[in-house]
Amino acid sequence: MRTPTILTPLTVRGLTARNRLWLPPMCMYSVEAEDGVVTDWHVLHYATRAMGGFGTVIVEAASVTPKGRISPFDLGLWNDEQIPGHRRLVEAIHAAGSLAGIQLGHGGRKAGTTPPRRPDIAGGARTDTIKGWDLVAPSAIAYPGHAEPRAMSPEEIRETTDAYVAAAARAVAAGYDLVELHGAHGYLIHEFLSPMSNTRTDAYGGSPEGRRRLALETTTAVRETVGDSTALGMRLSATDWAEGGLTGSDTAELAPLLVAAGIDVLHISSGGNAPAQVPVGPGYQVPFAAQVKAAVAGMTTPGGGEPVIVAVGLITEAAQAEQTLITDQADAVAVGRPALRDPYLPVRWAHDLGVNDWEAAGLPVQYWRGAWR
Ligand code: FNR
Repeated sequence: MRTPTILTPLTVRGLTARNRLWLPPMCMYSVEAEDGVVTDWHVLHYATRAMGGFGTVIVEAASVTPKGRISPFDLGLWNDEQIPGHRRLVEAIHAAGSLAGIQLGHGGRKAGTTPPRRPDIAGGARTDTIKGWDLVAPSAIAYPGHAEPRAMSPEEIRETTDAYVAAAARAVAAGYDLVELHGAHGYLIHEFLSPMSNTRTDAYGGSPEGRRRLALETTTAVRETVGDSTALGMRLSATDWAEGGLTGSDTAELAPLLVAAGIDVLHISSGGNAPAQVPVGPGYQVPFAAQVKAAVAGMTTPGGGEPVIVAVGLITEAAQAEQTLITDQADAVAVGRPALRDPYLPVRWAHDLGVNDWEAAGLPVQYWRGAWR
């Protein structure tokens, strides 16, 4: 029997994941001490998904500065005291057989919100900005329902790039295999990319080149810092789903520039920068991954090998994931919410596709006696 493509190994920058199933970054808002430090809960949560068979586990958005946190309960990598907790997390993920990645983010004008299950803190879940939070963004344009941000000075932009670089260095010190820059969902890098949130007239706005400058400068600087043996990715919202916003074609134009600047992995999501009518449905973002994949086809990353394209968004069935890969729309699929209810989703999907040899499929052999019979 042919091994399903989702269960074949995937190599990025010389690092090989046992399969092409990714746990995408998902904020757990569980740092009760509000110090950005990994807790036992985080270690157990991510290790469980690694035990379940995900080839690559991407840890939730960790902020590069305290004020860049989406909520006070986010993970962080803005100081050295945060490194040991991440090291424990990486070791647990590795012990269970997955590659470990971390998303580095800055919330920009959507920072400083209350997480969905803590409406006690401010006016309501993920809408109002927490009173007094210093919101920064490319331009002083509020996201509906959030406070008005300050437009960043060129100096503050440089400091933010430096914060990304320092956080990436800490991620490498913690042992992460992959660093993913958060360029999606209406957070800072996306805010710079989109004409809906960036009306600057200086070098960081005014044209597609200007709006792309932060994403590209950050990529170049982080690439230099993380060195040759760490994979570097960026998550993008391919479209704003809104009149006057980013489109799939804009993102297809940006993708080769990012690869040339040192990106190995493009993780293609959408939306988040404007309230929009999104045609949500099975695999609704996959066509954007396919568009980006076509745009970088034939390119070789500076680290060698082709760029890896990850599709995500309502991929909920094994056959659907398999179809996404065998039709060459992406190289890997990320599965988020289904993995919150079922950490053993890769094992289940292997079974759904008729794979019973757990060892050959890189699934946890220790649990093989629990296979369906
Ligand atoms: C998310 N998502 C997300 N995305 C991201 O880039 N960084 C993050 O930290 C988070 N946080 C987060 C928390 C929770 C609880 C959910 C459900 C989602 C989006 C996530 O990575 C994914 O793109 C979407 O959930 C769509 O994929 P699924 O869930 O349909 O497979």
